[in-house]
Amino acid sequence: MTKVFCAIDTPDLSRAVSLSSVLSNTGCGLKLGLEFFMSNGPVGVQSIRNAYPDIPIFLDLKFHDIPNTVAGALRAVTRLDVQYLNLHAGGGLEMMRAGLDAVHFEADRLGIAAPRLLAVTVLTSIDQASLSGVGVDADIENQVLRLARLTKNAGLAGVVCSAKEIEILRKDLGDDFILMVPGIRPQGSDNQDQKRVMSPVEAINLGASHLVIGRPITEAVDPQIAVADIISSLA
Ligand code: C5P
Repeated sequence: MTKVFCAIDTPDLSRAVSLSSVLSNTGCGLKLGLEFFMSNGPVGVQSIRNAYPDIPIFLDLKFHDIPNTVAGALRAVTRLDVQYLNLHAGGGLEMMRAGLDAVHFEADRLGIAAPRLLAVTVLTSIDQASLSGVGVDADIENQVLRLARLTKNAGLAGVVCSAKEIEILRKDLGDDFILMVPGIRPQGSDNQDQKRVMSPVEAINLGASHLVIGRPITEAVDPQIAVADIISSLA
């Protein structure tokens, strides 16, 4: 199973392709997000997919809209044949179920493996004051737990969560639920703008199933060695 997903946070297709090429034999996956997608569109994803069909891709577009619109968007991106997609759990149970149905319907129609659908609970950029500001009086941890339970109830495969939520979510949601965790820093690397970081080994030991790691790989002198070191630390 692919444990490490490298965040390719660039609008530049040629940079993304060259990073994919460098990382293609390391055993890591790629996370492509909104910055890449809004610059290069589905064609950009397809060009990486076609050039490196063995690299798993997590397309991190975080959909949040009415159920019918999210279903349509997910149907469209399911055609890209990536391995992980996501939406916001805050869109509600009905939206998540409509999204999941759309993914399965389209994957079945195309005869491809259905991508795993994950949910974002509370963004890590949201603090207690911002949460109250949008009318949610629960504390962050309870809100994350509530939305993660709703995600499981909707039948989705898991959530994207911060390192500090791994333990409680793993305990509450069981072993099969995917916990995809960003904010990871190998020992000795720069925290950059990440406030609360955890090492790859710590996160996996606490129960993370996948790690999202960007700049410690993409800005390393040798990204291939950086990934190899991370992956071997987890063996
Ligand atoms: O470079 P770095 O390892 O900090 O990149 C982490 C990636 O994970 C980025 O793509 C960032 O947008 C994403 N992410 C995050 N924190 C979250 C959700 C996503 O850092 N809570």
